[in-house]
Amino acid sequence: MNIVLLGPPGAGKGTQAEKICQHYGIPRISAGDLLRKEAAEKTPLGNDARTYMVKGLLVPNRIVSAVIDQRLNDEDCKRGFLLDGFPRNIDQAGELEKLRRIDLVLYMELSLEKALERLEGRMSCPNCEAVYHLHFDPPGKEGVCDRCKENLVQREDDKQETITKRFETYEKETLPLVEHYKSAKLLRTVDAGRSVEETFAQIRDILDSAQESNA
Ligand code: AP5
Repeated sequence: MNIVLLGPPGAGKGTQAEKICQHYGIPRISAGDLLRKEAAEKTPLGNDARTYMVKGLLVPNRIVSAVIDQRLNDEDCKRGFLLDGFPRNIDQAGELEKLRRIDLVLYMELSLEKALERLEGRMSCPNCEAVYHLHFDPPGKEGVCDRCKENLVQREDDKQETITKRFETYEKETLPLVEHYKSAKLLRTVDAGRSVEETFAQIRDILDSAQESNA
């Protein structure tokens, strides 16, 4: 299945994307991770993207669509994929429709208050992209990644003023996609305010029944 994961910053998209991809054996295509990788490597595209990301703005469509298009052409995407953070506005949804058929959109619904609490405590591994939370999901050793032992960092865009701007951008640009995909009868809503495992159980129910009805 070709799946899109939609939701506000901090809804837990990355956390659930990892679990979905491991469980169903499909690749995760994270627009944010792809852009951060370009930025960390200081490619011209990455330098350009970073100027928008640190301000909490969307990176221009031409940059993001090029990165996503390239990744979707990889061999491992032929038998399904999970898109995390793309599309993020109506224009990107139009671009995606030209590239691939989408079977289902998982909308992770969460209040901005709860999302803020999650982002303020998030710690990320700059090496393997693993994500932790100071209170909800702390690493075994404080400040150190369980997987690769790298020191954890706060994401550059997880500062208070940037988070506020990201929420504004989300409400203005991304939220209209909920109606867009509802009208297309592709939207399934998940209560993202539950624990990681409870949220994943809802997602599994949705995906398993969608697979059964596709079979
Ligand atoms: P991106 O990296 O996609 O960030 P985002 O959408 O803001 O989402 P986050 O990664 O912040 O949160 P998440 O929902 O993945 O939550 P997570 O699982 O980490 O995009 C960053 C930037 O890149 C954008 O602002 C934009 O500039 C640019 N960009 C990206 N895509 C673009 C596009 N298509 N077009 C243009 N620009 C684009 O969880 C958050 C925290 O909560 C963690 O600490 C986690 O441990 C914890 N947590 C998770 N689930 C739970 C739970 N159930 N209970 C308690 N804690 C939990």
